[in-house]
Amino acid sequence: MTKIVNSWNDFDPLKHVIVGRAENSVIPPEEPATSEKVPIDSEMRGMWGPRPLETVEKAAAQLDFLAKTLEEHGVKVDRPTPLQWNQHIQTPDFRNDSMMTCMPPRDILLTIGNEIMASANSFRCRYFEYLAYWPLMKQYFDEDPEFKWTQAPRPRLTDASYKHNYYDEKISLEERLERTAAKDFVTTEVEPMWDAADVLRLGKDLFIQHGLTTNRTAMEWFKRYYPDLRVHAVNFPGDPYPIHIDATFVPLRPGLIINNPHRRLPEEQRKIFEANDWQIVDAAMPAHDTPPPLCYSSVWLSMNCLVLDHKTVICEASEVHQMEQMDKLGMNVIPVPFRDAYPFGGALHCATADVFREGGCEDYFP
Ligand code: ARG
Repeated sequence: MTKIVNSWNDFDPLKHVIVGRAENSVIPPEEPATSEKVPIDSEMRGMWGPRPLETVEKAAAQLDFLAKTLEEHGVKVDRPTPLQWNQHIQTPDFRNDSMMTCMPPRDILLTIGNEIMASANSFRCRYFEYLAYWPLMKQYFDEDPEFKWTQAPRPRLTDASYKHNYYDEKISLEERLERTAAKDFVTTEVEPMWDAADVLRLGKDLFIQHGLTTNRTAMEWFKRYYPDLRVHAVNFPGDPYPIHIDATFVPLRPGLIINNPHRRLPEEQRKIFEANDWQIVDAAMPAHDTPPPLCYSSVWLSMNCLVLDHKTVICEASEVHQMEQMDKLGMNVIPVPFRDAYPFGGALHCATADVFREGGCEDYFP
């Protein structure tokens, strides 16, 4: 019997990771919380159905290459088991015409110490996505006697979980920014809802983004579930589509974090970092003006890198400015081409979920 699961942050030496799979991916039909995340000018408005096969094949090839690169650097890689995502689902509370994908794993699985928890996602199309990871979870459970296999309280996702007239085709970008600043999001507070990728783990501290995919009630739930950790609710004015913290605020090693220059950490939390001699550096500008076709995310996937240890980072191979900045910050860069996988939900950090990193629960902000 060995220790299989352990991870307290995003930068200690990575030894074991899950890399997502693009097979069977579907662009989900509209549902109460999804239209707000499709950018106003996106070609994807109103579109749904299985993703074009050639795009799936290209993404799968890049995901395989990422897995191979990780293995070459001594990281054990596991892969989920995709379901047939293109089928309707139903619970006592809702029905949806399809699921989505098992990309990216970071949105679904939250590893804290010896526990991996499946999240409480607010999108109906993601309600059963955790099933793709259950074979791996059972394996870890069999092999590691200390592994805690957990599922967060499942949200019901009835119509009461969403504000119904929140979104309107004509809403301007300015108005969206005002809503982010006012912490006015599409979800209500009838139950805790959260995506694992909204949680930034820094040992004893969890910085959790309040936005379109994670609500206030989730923050309260986290405080009670992890009484020994400190939970900080963060909100980044400047992001019209605040979804997942990992293209906004990305730690590289203890004492160093890069921040999206368009989405600045508010003063209140900035003080926590500065008081503990952390450097908050503006991330380099993305190398691209637009995301690839059929992609929901922004060009800021440029900063969504995967840190292998305090000196090594995997960056997307065409993100020349980000790679140059990493180099200047003293990191060795491993470039991996990944833009074909972006449309499937994100870049290198998103597309993975931690199983094992060395190190324990440090207090970086005593
Ligand atoms: N909302 C981010 C952006 O477009 C993308 C975050 C993707 N992260 C993830 N874990 N899926 O800038």
